[in-house]
Amino acid sequence: MDGLRDVVAAETVLSDVDGQAGRLIIRGFTLDDLAGRIAYESACHLLLDGMIEGLPEPRRMRARLGEARAWAFAEVAALDKDLAGRPPLDVVRALMARLPDGDDIDVALRLLASPAVFAPAAIRAGQGLAPIAPDPALGHAADMLRMLKGTPPAPAEAAALDAYLVTIIDHGLNASTFAARVTASTLAGLTSAALAGISALKGPLHGGAPGPVIDMLDGIGAPENATAWLEAALDRGDRLMGFGHGVYRVRDPRADALKAAVRSLAEASAELPGRLELAEAVEAAALDILKRRKPDRPLNTNVEFYTAVLLEALGFPHHAFTCVFATGRICGWIAHAREQVLSGRLIRPSSHYVGPAPRQAA
Ligand code: ACO
Repeated sequence: MDGLRDVVAAETVLSDVDGQAGRLIIRGFTLDDLAGRIAYESACHLLLDGMIEGLPEPRRMRARLGEARAWAFAEVAALDKDLAGRPPLDVVRALMARLPDGDDIDVALRLLASPAVFAPAAIRAGQGLAPIAPDPALGHAADMLRMLKGTPPAPAEAAALDAYLVTIIDHGLNASTFAARVTASTLAGLTSAALAGISALKGPLHGGAPGPVIDMLDGIGAPENATAWLEAALDRGDRLMGFGHGVYRVRDPRADALKAAVRSLAEASAELPGRLELAEAVEAAALDILKRRKPDRPLNTNVEFYTAVLLEALGFPHHAFTCVFATGRICGWIAHAREQVLSGRLIRPSSHYVGPAPRQAA
């Protein structure tokens, strides 16, 4: 069984993860063609094209997502004191659960827009701050940063978040996408499918790793400490966060896309070059040590390593990184849910019973 590795559970036109070549294809484009080159709204159009009736024209996606953010903001009124004390991902999930369910374009667009509104509101509520209403005229990434900090971001910051959201928009049949497809296959509706996705994303083996990357960088503190710190962590039996992957046997291509985004951002920042220098030293030391200690197991940098550096630089608190992941990945969940409804059937695998045989009647 082994976690269904190598079991093909769906046919998809959406994305392909080639773990041997280190290549991610999204609807016929490599990640290099998309990350840092197109806005999140355009990537959403690319992924959802042909999956749902009434999808706006590409040039209307930005405005329609802006309208949907404004609509979603009304739901933030439900973020009361009790909810504000919960982890941001729990808050986002609770607010998402209030959205109408269904399979039409209005449900899809409102769902698509909602984490970009709910995540900043959840972060601010945890800090005792009031939520900031969306500005529908802005791009999705720029508005999310504005709702987080209260002032419009610099163009380089908005571009960096756009690059992140596009980079993680879809990634084959990962755990959260599979959960979304299983739920969609029962015809439960897009909101139900996305709630299944976000619940699966929460765990540290899937979307929860970048927070611990920050703990590691903080623990190391300076480039010259990297090797000794990492050796001691491995001696204790710890895993190095941000390294290794269930599918990639070479470098995760998303790590390079995000490293490029961090480098662009660092050009306009006073503190980021130092943090980036530390991260690069830790990465180089970790790759060297892992190669030496695990010569038979290729262990490379994964998406979470530079995710952590990027989202920290953009001002997201590290306990909220998984919410930002959900903000990008929700498009993948919706597209897969629609594809499942359009071309799949109820997902109902079998299990192999290994329990005791029934007792014979005396
Ligand atoms: N640090 C040290 N050793 C590692 C690491 C690591 N990051 N990753 C794997 N290994 C070692 C394991 O200890 C194991 O060694 P052993 O055979 O001597 O016991 C061997 O490599 C294989 O480990 P598996 O768990 O079988 O590898 P798998 O490919 O299934 O695991 C995973 C993938 C969970 C991502 C793992 O590499 C890991 O725990 N990495 C750290 C956490 C992390 O960065 N997670 C984010 C992943 S990206 C994403 O999900 C979006």
